[in-house]
Amino acid sequence: MRVAVKQLENELVTPGQDRRHELGQFLTPQPVADFMASLFDSRWQEWNLLDAGAGTGALSVALVKRLCALRYKPRNISIMACEVDETLLESLHSTLQGCGRECERADIRFSASVLNEDFIAAAVPMAGGDLFTSSQPRFNAAIVNPPYRKIRSDSSTRLLLRSAGIETSNLYTGFVALITKLLAAGGELVAITPRSFCNGPYFKPFRTDFLETMSLRRLHVFESRSAAFSRDDVLQENVIIHAVKNSAKPESVIISSSNGTPTGAISEREVNYHGVVSPNDPLQFIHLAEGEAQDNARAIMSQFTATLPDLGLSVSTGRVVDFRAKEFLRQNPETDTAPLIYPCHFDDGFVHWPKEKARKPNAIISNEQTRELLVPVGVYVLVKRFTAKEERKRIVACIYDSHQIHAPLVGFENHLNYFHINGHGLPMALAKGLAAFLNSTVVDVYFRQFNGHTQVNATDLRSLNYPVKAELESLGSRISTPGLLQAELDALVEDELF
Ligand SMILES: C[S@@+](CC[C@H](N)C(=O)[O-])C[C@H]1O[C@@H](n2cnc3c(N)ncnc32)[C@H](O)[C@@H]1O
Repeated sequence: MRVAVKQLENELVTPGQDRRHELGQFLTPQPVADFMASLFDSRWQEWNLLDAGAGTGALSVALVKRLCALRYKPRNISIMACEVDETLLESLHSTLQGCGRECERADIRFSASVLNEDFIAAAVPMAGGDLFTSSQPRFNAAIVNPPYRKIRSDSSTRLLLRSAGIETSNLYTGFVALITKLLAAGGELVAITPRSFCNGPYFKPFRTDFLETMSLRRLHVFESRSAAFSRDDVLQENVIIHAVKNSAKPESVIISSSNGTPTGAISEREVNYHGVVSPNDPLQFIHLAEGEAQDNARAIMSQFTATLPDLGLSVSTGRVVDFRAKEFLRQNPETDTAPLIYPCHFDDGFVHWPKEKARKPNAIISNEQTRELLVPVGVYVLVKRFTAKEERKRIVACIYDSHQIHAPLVGFENHLNYFHINGHGLPMALAKGLAAFLNSTVVDVYFRQFNGHTQVNATDLRSLNYPVKAELESLGSRISTPGLLQAELDALVEDELF
């Protein structure tokens, strides 16, 4: 029995690179598929499983294998596998035939159907009850690794989803939202998806619907970003969700983590539901507090109550998109240029400019055409939007100080966020306090709980709560030298704020 399944797994094909990207084909590694299958805890006699975006069937075979190995086996397993790519169908059929043989040996009735269609197009009418005679959802289990792809607001996919009452800008959340509609009450979902849905305003409609319809049971994160697999060009952290269709909120959720290697240990803890989704959070962020440090960071951050508007501050994305402003960029400052600041100018908490032998231009022509791209002289707090994978911290803040750089205007490149007061600079003490707060380990640990990718966008910074102005100013007044060690900065922040 094991040999047959092993053979099937070895037969899984790896499609060509371009096609893979187009269709979001990142096939689930077998240990991850097995782990996902192990999360189902229903004891259905009749399994009606949906495998949407089935690929070559890795997820179905993992669940069938598990059900066949149970002491009290189900009577019947029925699978509907939907896969749009016809080049995978032969493998998918052969995987499902293998599942059939496996079930036969385990004395379980088995049937499978393959739908070679776009899942969204096929499932929207199903969710409305048109495709099948019964208008009731038919599935009591779904296992999915959905394709990840942005969907344009005018695309037919977006319109189809909208017709089913689903407003979302990524295919993966579209898949999951539709699947939840197709599940019967009590039906179980296990999905591996990017972590990005856990936060961010764009995913809010998806998150609120999902949390209203589904009762979260477990969230599993991979400690290493590349451990399970990477999607798209942005390295995404992945999360496995286990949830049951039931509008009652659970008391607690299991948060587990592993490094994603086949033999890697799994650590898990039970977290109060309100520690995962705060009842007071209008954005319904999903926090993945994986350990004591994370709990601690959440507890500390929950004491801060000020929003950016309370502080009189705004945060925006740098206005200079370099490839669109190419003709105005200059390697070195000239008489008619303004400083152009990139992340490469960050140095020990302050902007050091100009940078000799920089790979990025140091200056931008300052004239009527570029005026809109520039901001006036002042002190600004800058935060990198992208951090390198190997960088220790996700939030990296630094100060642009016009006392050090004499120029009436400055350009912040689009890879930066900048904090300002109505488009102007901040008082120095407030800027230093804000930068120190943002650079503290506590903020970084907190931020990582809901931000699973390498980007720090202005919307993320707007969603944070901050200490009040007087506290930030007091902290700032204690920072006299640039280049504090992280431990020194953390000690200062702790002493001043916690
Ligand atoms: C991330 S892969 C996962 C494959 C498989 N379930 C696994 O876990 O190995 C997503 C799959 O969805 C398929 N797919 C992409 N867009 C689809 C669509 N609109 N409808 C159905 N399948 C789609 C891709 O061809 C790919 O096989």
